[in-house]
Amino acid sequence: MEPLLGNTSESTIDNLQSTMNLMRQITEIAECREAVRSFQRRGQSVGLVLTMGALHAGHLSLIADARKRCDEVAVTIFVNPTQFGPKEDFSKYPRPLENDLKLCREAGAAIVFTPDVGTMYATDAAATLHVGVIGERLCGAYRPGHFDGVATVVCKLFNILPADAAFFGEKDYQQLTVIRRIVRDLNIPIEIVGCPTIREPDGLAMSSRNVYLSETERLQATSLSRALFAARAAVAAGEKDASSIVDQIRRTILDAGPASVDYIEVVDPDSLASLNWMHGRARICLAVRIGATRLIDNVEFQSQED
Ligand code: PAF
Repeated sequence: MEPLLGNTSESTIDNLQSTMNLMRQITEIAECREAVRSFQRRGQSVGLVLTMGALHAGHLSLIADARKRCDEVAVTIFVNPTQFGPKEDFSKYPRPLENDLKLCREAGAAIVFTPDVGTMYATDAAATLHVGVIGERLCGAYRPGHFDGVATVVCKLFNILPADAAFFGEKDYQQLTVIRRIVRDLNIPIEIVGCPTIREPDGLAMSSRNVYLSETERLQATSLSRALFAARAAVAAGEKDASSIVDQIRRTILDAGPASVDYIEVVDPDSLASLNWMHGRARICLAVRIGATRLIDNVEFQSQED
């Protein structure tokens, strides 16, 4: 007996796929690139959401934003070894693939690329990206090489999935800034769309790492967003001295329980350079360890011009 789609051409399968809203899981590079291009050949724009899996409402809102802006959405799920330090959680990073695929399907993704490490990196891979100072401050100072690893894998994924636009959360603000920089500096033909941080009802920024928090730590973790929102209100009310804002945030976080602050910094939203005095737009970024879990968060500030 002939297979069901025995004589059916590839474009008929593509048409069938999009009419029936079927999602394709792809593990090979050439097939993935061709799937994106075949949408574009038919005049459909493709939005890209890059993830390391363990999808939560934050990722789903990126997929929803991509669906609003583009005709089709491609998602990648790849826990990238080159962005983890030797003492970080690469091997224990959550990998609930079946559930992630289900969530992508429900969210309306057309393609999910799930390569293995051997597909992404040749054993003798030598070429990598180096992003310089923008990747060496803030989190980069505590995670040496992290943003070079992110920049390298993101650039590879942009080459494998030549989409029209890519959607990233502002929660990882330094990552978003680094990605904007590589796209600008290397003339990568893709639009980068920054999307607002999605928070739990109590304010905690959503992160795949929140599952590591104990019940008490989870409660304590709400102090990060509480401190940032209070600081934003203080800036709106006229506070301009960055060090007093930072002190106020530090006090709120440490009052909530034992925590170790990696950094709290007021920065220029484009260059990430440290600011002593607020005028116009600024970003406050922080990284705090609660127990064994490192959490990051940030908010945009708008102070009145002097
Ligand atoms: O934000 C992430 O999940 C990762 O850093 C990314 C952008 C998918 C690259 O591995």
